[in-house]
Amino acid sequence: MKENIDILNKEFGKYSAKELLRFFLKLYKGRISFSTSFGAEDQVLTDMIFKIDNEADIFTLDTGRLPYETYDVMHRTNLKYETKISVYFPLSEDIECLYKEQGINGFYDSVQNRKDCCFVRKIAPLKRALEGVDVWITGLRAQQSITREDLQLFEWDEGNHIIKLNPLILWSEQDIWDYIKENDVPYNALHDKGYPSIGCAPCTRAVKEGADVRSGRWWWESPEHKECGLHINIKDNQ
Ligand code: ADX
Ligand code: SF4
Repeated sequence: MKENIDILNKEFGKYSAKELLRFFLKLYKGRISFSTSFGAEDQVLTDMIFKIDNEADIFTLDTGRLPYETYDVMHRTNLKYETKISVYFPLSEDIECLYKEQGINGFYDSVQNRKDCCFVRKIAPLKRALEGVDVWITGLRAQQSITREDLQLFEWDEGNHIIKLNPLILWSEQDIWDYIKENDVPYNALHDKGYPSIGCAPCTRAVKEGADVRSGRWWWESPEHKECGLHINIKDNQ
């Protein structure tokens, strides 16, 4: 599969996001999953995916530290598409251990603590979610940050041994919002309060208009470090 990445990028580079989803959801049925954080990009993909196949596998990683607004949009999304998106939680013993090691907000104290927290709350549950899956769909966009500008439509994820498909890789923020408005897609209320990118509540804050879209994530760290490790082929995680 790894050796096919270049071919896939060449063959499918001109396909639209919808065409890609239609083709790959069918080809890999039962072995393809989309991970959603319920951010704007992910809501676009959820809408496209459920319109193609209302039984497609969509999951989220509930870190236990998400903002109220994320649970609210999760609830509205489940209602709209008459579904129950799968949820993966961190293991309680891992959280208890993390708490003993770094306290409740230890992620502010060092990059290592922050990465350990992201590992327990996101990376380990992601590994469980991706068991038996061959293609992992994400809402990554190249324009989101300097750490993402080299990303391709198809990527090989060495850690999870899986093909990643990023159908919105070339979309702009404007494209995302045009789709949301045109299709009446539910979205996280925090987007209207200055949050272009939304993760865990203690690690996300509002940004000034026009600021880098990910500057409100782990704002106390330098831009090159601002990846949680979910996407291991992104620069900081190499
Ligand atoms: S993150 O790595 O910094 O958290 P970001 O919030 O930009 O990533 O989201 C990028 C993509 O990672 C999303 O489109 C989604 O596919 C996946 N993702 C991020 N957070 C989660 C989550 N909590 N649950 C499921 N998928 C997620
Ligand atoms: Fe922990 Fe913050 Fe990472 Fe969420 S984003 S898992 S709270 S360090």
